[in-house]
Amino acid sequence: MAAGLVTAQQTLTGLQPMQLRRDLAAIADLIEYAFAPSLDAAGRSAIQEMRLISRTGALLWALGRLNKAMPGLSGGFVWYESGRLVGNVSISPAESLPCYGKGWVIANVAVYPEFRRRGIARRLMQASLDWITRHGTFATLQVEADNPNARALYESMGFITQRSFIRWRRPISHHFLPPMNPADIRPLIRRDSARLFTLAERVRPNESGGLGWLRPTEKKRFRPPRLGGMLGIFNEHRMFYWGVPSESGAELDGALLAEQRFGLSTVLFDVLVAPEHQGELGAALVNHVIRAVAGRHQPLVTDHPADDSLMADVLKGNGFVPERELVHMLWR
Ligand SMILES: CC(C)(COP(=O)(O)OP(=O)(O)OC[C@H]1O[C@@H](n2cnc3c(N)ncnc32)[C@H](O)[C@@H]1OP(=O)(O)O)[C@@H](O)C(=O)NCCC(=O)NCCS
Repeated sequence: MAAGLVTAQQTLTGLQPMQLRRDLAAIADLIEYAFAPSLDAAGRSAIQEMRLISRTGALLWALGRLNKAMPGLSGGFVWYESGRLVGNVSISPAESLPCYGKGWVIANVAVYPEFRRRGIARRLMQASLDWITRHGTFATLQVEADNPNARALYESMGFITQRSFIRWRRPISHHFLPPMNPADIRPLIRRDSARLFTLAERVRPNESGGLGWLRPTEKKRFRPPRLGGMLGIFNEHRMFYWGVPSESGAELDGALLAEQRFGLSTVLFDVLVAPEHQGELGAALVNHVIRAVAGRHQPLVTDHPADDSLMADVLKGNGFVPERELVHMLWR
């Protein structure tokens, strides 16, 4: 380029719809900078992948690969100041919910520190919500509970808090855990689906964030195998379903869902307990998942509602450590 020639890219300023080819590398830098303390291994490798893709220039191939590496980055808006990308909001499709319609996930909301408090994030968010209004009916996002600045921004734009979830992790522990009785914990079979779904709708309704982040409470998640025990022995993941029948047998007082993904040693699980049976039953189900699924050789992870203090005590008492608390927010 001849000296003194200023390109359109160098003078780019203000709000722009995100363009993958132009913006990808700079978004990777911004996300890495803004979220460095909270990035896990998957987040870091997604950023590496973004950089790799931005260097190859093979966009069609990249789009497919990017969706896998960074599902939250299919669109959105960026903010430029004199040719430098300084702010970003990403938009990607959320699973449709019968009660809400078509939704979008907002993520990677970030502005470089020297450009903060000038209304850039607000303008990026407003453009995103205008776009979402034209293409769907709701937006959802998650934010760290201890990020009051971002929460204030979202609340001022009309987002409401659905529920907060704490991620609990139990590292591998070689201590022997004795069984806990007397809960009648049984493997569930297909004909328990309706009772299981009824319990889930009661304790994890979609208006309160469902089962957790991007895991709405919907029938297809609550279909134990026909023969009980586990599902998908030869598939990419195995699902385990257990339940505790009520005294009359007509309902379930509690249930345990656990998932082992192929190639991942960590077991993910959810404990659902009817409010009138919280406490002891929750403790028995946690004892069961440790003994029956993870044994002493696998770490366990659960995202559990932060408002359930009884379960928090049970998890702490069983060697679980709280990793982070995320607030799920909804805009309609
Ligand atoms: C959160 C963040 C994106 C805000 O960007 P920004 O461009 O400075 O935000 P804006 O200037 O548009 O401010 C919008 C609103 O956010 C809130 N806010 C932002 N920064 C704030 C601060 N330091 N103190 C108090 N409120 C703040 C205010 O409600 C503000 O509205 P107001 O100016 O009318 O009071 C930015 O601080 C950031 O990148 N943080 C690190 C990454 C992050 O936490 N992202 C959110 C992930 S969910």
